Amino acid sequence: MSNFQMTAPKPTSGSLGVGSSTLDVERSGAVLRSAGLRKTYPSGDRTLAVLQGVDFAVRAGETVSIRGESGSGKSTLLNILAGLDRPDSGELFWGAEAAHKLSLGELTARRGRFLGMVFQSYYLIPELDAFANVLMGARLVGRVGAGERARATALLKRVGLAERSTHLPAQLSGGERQRVAVARALMNRPQVILADEPTGNLDERTGDEVIGLLLEVCAEEQAALVLVTHNPAHAKKAARQLLLKDGQFA
Ligand SMILES: Nc1ncnc2c1ncn2[C@@H]1O[C@H](COP(=O)(O)OP(=O)(O)OP(=O)(O)O)[C@@H](O)[C@H]1O
Ligand SMILES: [Mg+2]
Repeated sequence: MSNFQMTAPKPTSGSLGVGSSTLDVERSGAVLRSAGLRKTYPSGDRTLAVLQGVDFAVRAGETVSIRGESGSGKSTLLNILAGLDRPDSGELFWGAEAAHKLSLGELTARRGRFLGMVFQSYYLIPELDAFANVLMGARLVGRVGAGERARATALLKRVGLAERSTHLPAQLSGGERQRVAVARALMNRPQVILADEPTGNLDERTGDEVIGLLLEVCAEEQAALVLVTHNPAHAKKAARQLLLKDGQFA
């Protein structure tokens, strides 16, 4: 399939075995990969087939954008790639790890070190200031010491918020909140950032700035970026652009 050029050819018979799938990931250099993801939701007395066999891969450090009509399944896909939701069937690899074989608890334990997420609605903790929100990324995966504090300080500075570190989310503008969310997502040096319409609540200029920042910091941190967006100009800034249509990449 055209969106899946980076994988080695699949064996012709049946689904991939564990050994060959792991080998494919290593051969392809994919840091995150899915094969044949399917997801349906009950909808009244019918079934809504949202994802109908999604093959996806992103290489280490690569930037990929995903567009698609509202309701085409972009958030569903990102949540499954993040291990926040389960597909009905299909494979998911985080590096060489077969994530589809892990329990939700195991996924949660690994997620915080493997990937970072940025959402349209920021999802900052309202009671914590900007610095503590960034540090929360580290608290979720282990102990917080001087090294983590220094990194949180450096990241806040990098996203232009050194002077706002003691502000609560309610005391920050939308663009500033999203910058905090970007810093938090990068806290644990993840291999991948998954961003679901990160500029959806921002005005055009602020949105452009946030996308510019996101691309810059992901490049600096050597994190791959998967960007879901409705904005064609933002989508074009990614090295590779995909369109989700009828449950698959067109
Ligand atoms: N938990 C759920 N239960 C039932 N249906 C759901 C559920 N979550 C999503 N859907 C349906 O699945 C489809 C895909 O939803 P999804 O949120 O992935 O779309 P999207 O591409 O992210 O859209 P948007 O661009 O508006 O954010 C929609 O038709 C939605 O109604
Ligand atoms: Mg969505």
